[in-house]
Amino acid sequence: MDRLLVTGGTPLEGSVRVGGAKNSALKLMAAALLAEGETVIENVPRIADCLTMGDVLAHLGARVRWEGSTVTVDTSGAAGVETPYELVRRMRASIVVLGPLLARHGRARVAMPGGCNIGSRQIDLHLKGFERMGAEFTYDHGYLEATASSLHGAVIWLDFPSVGATENVLMAAVAASGTTVIENAAREPEIQDLAGMLVEMGAKIEGAGTTTVEIEGTGGGFEPVRHRVVPDRIESGTFAMAVCVAGGNVMIEGARSDHLEMVLDKLSDAGADIQPGDRGLSVKMADRPVSVDFVTLPYPGFPTDLQPQMMAVLSTARGTSIATENVFESRFMFVDELNRMGADIRTEGHHAVIRGVERLSAAPVRALDIRAGAAMVIAALAADGTTEISDVHFIDRGYEDLEGRLSALGAEVRREAASPDAPA
Ligand code: UD1
Repeated sequence: MDRLLVTGGTPLEGSVRVGGAKNSALKLMAAALLAEGETVIENVPRIADCLTMGDVLAHLGARVRWEGSTVTVDTSGAAGVETPYELVRRMRASIVVLGPLLARHGRARVAMPGGCNIGSRQIDLHLKGFERMGAEFTYDHGYLEATASSLHGAVIWLDFPSVGATENVLMAAVAASGTTVIENAAREPEIQDLAGMLVEMGAKIEGAGTTTVEIEGTGGGFEPVRHRVVPDRIESGTFAMAVCVAGGNVMIEGARSDHLEMVLDKLSDAGADIQPGDRGLSVKMADRPVSVDFVTLPYPGFPTDLQPQMMAVLSTARGTSIATENVFESRFMFVDELNRMGADIRTEGHHAVIRGVERLSAAPVRALDIRAGAAMVIAALAADGTTEISDVHFIDRGYEDLEGRLSALGAEVRREAASPDAPA
């Protein structure tokens, strides 16, 4: 498997363009299943997860074509209803096809996702929502079989504002008969993006981006559209944090500060000079970061997907910080890897105490998941010597050419391809 070699010590200078949001593009691609014909989605990041979603759609019979960052999904003749374990195992988010499949075919057979490196990740809220709308489920050899002769509107209370459950239910509800209300809905910008595209396709949705989303089902009849993916706030935050660790002056082009308010507030408290502008976000860091406490919460709280990168920032801060993770139960597993680089972090349940050290030291470390991998890269920018990061395939799931873009900012990052006879 490929490795990244990162030599720390160089400040970042210049500008970097942020790509389309992974967590939006995946759902927009799934939503294409609702319409018959060619849906065109622009600004899709060419990352492993989006390629996997392309494979999921192709397995369902759609034709998927990439031209640069534009993806065309042609669903004419997409009659498949099954998503196999091989694809769901590669990417849990494959289960967001459940809603569109139920809406379009009244039937779906989707492999049950297992746990992953950040927690057990149930889908009970998705299923409870579909059940309220008239769907029935059976389990068969690791597969979930869903049937709904007709979906009807319902009031659905989510115990937790789950992003995936909100999106899955939304994509089924637009085609149901009657009105569906999702209470305690997730409010992430990616949900607003999805609702925006569904409305362009002919859906009737009010309140996306708030805790109550009301959907007037149309019974189907959606038109394929052309839609542009919202910029990736997690990638924007990752670059901003890289500057906070390495120092320097970077313009993050296309970053939307209105999607990052809590994060930018914390980075300012940590000593960064952040200026939002028409082109994007200017981030300057002249000194070592200062400690800050933070707590992850559903949007608009501090995103759990930036928690590992923020821990990398705080690991070299002046003073002691406390981080609290409220979204995923096992999202501190990467801390042992950071500590191997000389960080001083202790965890207790869902809290972490980060005692800032003056300098990290390079060590061989692993990327344990997409964002933990990004955290390793960021930490390595401030380490003495050359850090070797293995399991880079996790980073490739969520970041397009991270090493190329950091190198363009002056960082010393290079990829070493696995030798063909190295053990997997
Ligand atoms: C999405 C994002 C992920 C992000 C997360 C939280 C995608 C592809 N992924 O994941 O990057 O970290 O939102 O912002 O968009 N839960 C249940 N039952 C359910 C559903 C969720 O208990 O039916 C729990 C999960 O185990 C987790 C929490 O709710 O502890 C949040 O999960 P959720 O918001 O659903 O995250 P995802 O949609 O999986």
